[in-house]
Amino acid sequence: MSLVRLIYCSRFSKEMDAQQLQAILDVSRANNPARQITGILCYGPGVFLQCLEGPRDAVNDLYGKIIRDPRNKDVTLLEYDDIAERVFGEWSMAYVRAEDLSGGPAGFFGAPERFDPYSLSAGAALLFVRSLLGEKARFR
Ligand SMILES: Cc1cc2nc3c(=O)[nH]c(=O)nc-3n(C[C@H](O)[C@H](O)[C@H](O)COP(=O)(O)O)c2cc1C
Repeated sequence: MSLVRLIYCSRFSKEMDAQQLQAILDVSRANNPARQITGILCYGPGVFLQCLEGPRDAVNDLYGKIIRDPRNKDVTLLEYDDIAERVFGEWSMAYVRAEDLSGGPAGFFGAPERFDPYSLSAGAALLFVRSLLGEKARFR
């Protein structure tokens, strides 16, 4: 079974409240274990970055749903690769807010105090996602 990692970012089609965000997490955490999907969702003002890890068919299928999800727009694939092992194997979907990251989003994104995943190259998106593992204490 071929294992892959997919990293994308998207914008909310409408402003989301805490309840709507929680609903996305609840569905993810309910569905992902049966599909052997793990990963992390990072939330910034108006924007998501998500890393999905799992069997290729399951990840591709879920990404298709996410692209068609009307809560999302401007879904942009940042990085996709085969992997030997998972980074977020312990989480059906970890969740972290960019504003909670140590040093804030500027810690990774440089001078502007802004979480802007659209500016990331594939390599930088992967580095960012890997850096999130060091922020375990801030996962919700
Ligand atoms: C930003 C974002 C991330 C999502 N992540 C997941 C996920 O990890 N797993 C999942 O099952 N659904 C996720 N969803 C929800 C899916 O888009 C979809 O609504 C859900 O899988 C139910 O699809 P279904 O009714 O076709 O089964 C996410 C939605 C959004 C907007």
